[in-house]
Formats: sequence, C-alpha cells, structure tokens
Amino acid sequence: MMGVFLILLWIMNMVQPNIFQAEGVQVFPPVNFTLTVSALAEVFLHWKPNPNQEQKNYTIRYDVEIITPVSEEYDTKKTHSFRTAVLHNGFLARIRTLLLFNDLQMKSDWVMGELKPPLGAAETSVTNLSCVTYITIYSTVSLHCAWFPGKRAPEDTKYFLFYRYKTYTEECQDYSKGKWNRNIECRFSRTHIDPEEVDNLIVIHINGSSKYAAIKPFQQLFNQNAIEKVNVPRNVTVFLEQNDLLAKWEKPISSFPEECFEYEFCLCNLKSGSKQILKVSSNDFRLRIDVTCRYSIQIRANHYICCERGFWSDWSEILYVGKH
Ligand SMILES: *[C@@H]1O[C@H](CO)[C@@H](O)[C@H](O)[C@H]1NC(C)=O
Ligand SMILES: *[C@@H]1O[C@H](CO)[C@@H](O)[C@H](O)[C@H]1NC(C)=O
Ligand SMILES: *[C@@H]1O[C@H](CO)[C@@H](O)[C@H](O)[C@H]1NC(C)=O
Ligand SMILES: *[C@@H]1O[C@H](CO)[C@@H](O)[C@H](O)[C@H]1NC(C)=O
Ligand SMILES: *[C@@H]1O[C@H](CO)[C@@H](O)[C@H](O)[C@H]1NC(C)=O
Repeated sequence: MMGVFLILLWIMNMVQPNIFQAEGVQVFPPVNFTLTVSALAEVFLHWKPNPNQEQKNYTIRYDVEIITPVSEEYDTKKTHSFRTAVLHNGFLARIRTLLLFNDLQMKSDWVMGELKPPLGAAETSVTNLSCVTYITIYSTVSLHCAWFPGKRAPEDTKYFLFYRYKTYTEECQDYSKGKWNRNIECRFSRTHIDPEEVDNLIVIHINGSSKYAAIKPFQQLFNQNAIEKVNVPRNVTVFLEQNDLLAKWEKPISSFPEECFEYEFCLCNLKSGSKQILKVSSNDFRLRIDVTCRYSIQIRANHYICCERGFWSDWSEILYVGKH
C-alpha cells in the first residue's frame, strides 16, 4: 500500500515539470547582453529577449547575478538595470531567462557580461583614501578627502579627484600638495550633497596622469552620514542644584531632529582626578555629585537611529562647576 502511494507521488512529481515539455516549450538565454559605464561607478546593464523565445501564456523574467566587485542576485521583469559599484577592478555579471508558469519555472543557460578594469600600472593608484563631510551653518555640505600617492606612482604624478552624488559630478578645484608636489588632499567648500537625505552614497573617483606611467584610477563609495563629522552640541549650560549637577544643551547644527542624537558627557573630578564618560540620549542630564569638589564638563554628539552613526563631534568647550 505504502509502495503504491510512493509510486503515485513519484509519478505526480514526474508529470508536473513536464507541462513545459509536453507543450514542447524551450527557454533561451537573453541576447545582446551589454554593460556600459553610465556615470562614475555606475553600470547600465541591458539585454534583449531571445527572438526565438515563445511568450504564449508564460511569464518571462530575468535572473541577474553580479559576480564582482560585490556579489548580488536579483530578478527583474525589465530588460535593463542600473548598479552602483566600484569599477577600478572591473565588473562581471551574468543573466538568464526564467520562464514561469504557475509554480513551475524553467531556466535558460547563463550569458556573461564583463567590463575590463581600466588600464594603469600596478600600485600607481592612490591608497588610504578617507573622506569627511561637514554640515555648515547654511545647511550646505562641505567635503574633504585625503589619500596617499601609490607606492609606484612616479614623482610627476598628478592626481585628480571627482565626486558624484546622484546625477551630479564635479571635479575638485582646491587641492593640497604633499612631498614632490603631488596632490594628496582635496576640499569642496560647497557640494550638491543634500544634508536632509539619509544613507545616500557619495562616489569618489581619483585618477591621474604622469609622463612615465599610466596611473590606475581608484574609486570608493561612502555613505553620506557615516562620514559626517557631527557638529558640536550648542549652548551647553551646567549648574548646581543642591547636591545635583544639572546640564542642558541644544542639538548640533544639523537637518536631523533632536531624537536622532546621542551624546557623551565627560565629567572630570579635578580633586580626585577621576574621569567618567556617560552616554546620554536626551538634551539634559542630572547627576548626584560631591559638591565639595570641582568638576570640568564637556559634551560631544553623534547621530544615530535616523541614519548611520557618523564621526563623533569635537568636545564642547570646557565648563567648570563646584568649589575650588
Ligand atoms: C543584437 O545585436 C545585433 C548586432 O548589433 C543585431 O543585429 C541584432 O538585431 C540584435 N538582436 C536583437 C534581438 O536586438
Ligand atoms: C492561454 O490562456 C488562454 C486563456 O487563459 C487559454 O484559453 C489558452 O488555451 C492558453 N494557451 C496556451 C497555449 O496555453
Ligand atoms: C593604509 O592602509 C593600509 C591597508 O588598509 C593599512 O595597513 C595602513 O596602516 C594604512 N596606512 C596608514 C598610514 O594609515
Ligand atoms: C579622469 O576621470 C575623469 C572622469 O571620468 C575623466 O573625464 C578624465 O579624462 C580622467 N583623466 C585621466 C587623466 O584619466
Ligand atoms: C543659544 O543661546 C542664545 C542666547 O541665549 C540664543 O540666542 C540661541 O538661539 C541659542 N541657540 C540655540 C540653538 O538654541
């Protein structure tokens, strides 16, 4: 009895996928898969349905697999998509057709697509790139980046930095130079980075030229909030109320509301030399202290909850309370 049941199950399993076969349906890979660089660190992937692919009542989708630089898989009904990725080591992806009918699916073979890495001599690209953004009092964003020249970059190497934010791209005009007069820092006092946006990417592209070698370009993607040097908390006041220390302050200059900030409160007992750092998520603070001692107080801020944490602000100016 069990045997018959199993055989029945087995037959049902065999029959199901055969609906495609019974109808003689075949699935063909997409054609003319093309990759183009559509902006700095952005790839436009596009392809055509296979002209031999019969449509009938089936749903056609495409599986896309990005292999390098960062692996990612997704499927789409469209015959194109955009991807943001660092391209200095090339870009490799493959696609296939998916034919869907109820719960059944058939997959074609894969088709590969590749963008070759840009030319350039080994170890001529910049290293240790770091970038920081600052929100100004005018609610604009400035950007500052620094790097080291590549180990084998010739003395006459000239580096050029570009940033891209969404569709806007701009070349740096304000460089600082290091040894041998090579650019090692760049400043944009004003950018198109929107301080109200959350977790958007800033693309940095640095290429260069030299008479003696082809300079390999370098790219890096930064989360706009993760590289923000947060402003200092404002209007910090501290006073004593009986045996308690009370402190109040305002959030730093920022487009984010108060709830987005956390603070570190540094309390130093100048008599004993002991130092405490307390995490606070509100804009005020009360603490029982020994009022016979004198204390120094400083506060610094960071954003979180609303977006990625940034770089901690500088400490506020030192304030003192208590007896000498
Ligand atoms: C694929 O590209 C070739 C050559 O550019 C072209 O002749 C052909 O029509 C394209 N196929 C489709 C389905 O667009
Ligand atoms: C397609 O669907 C229509 C209506 O759902 C049906 O009448 C027809 O037989 C189907 N054709 C095939 C080839 O499956
Ligand atoms: C530069 O980056 C490399 C690799 O990430 C690291 O090992 C090195 O310490 C960095 N150099 C400096 C001076 O920060
Ligand atoms: C550097 O990159 C920019 C932006 O892609 C490009 O316009 C420029 O020609 C490149 N310069 C060199 C020297 O490769
Ligand atoms: C800080 O205090 C000054 C003077 O009391 C006041 O004018 C200003 O609006 C305060 N700033 C903030 C951010 O509350």
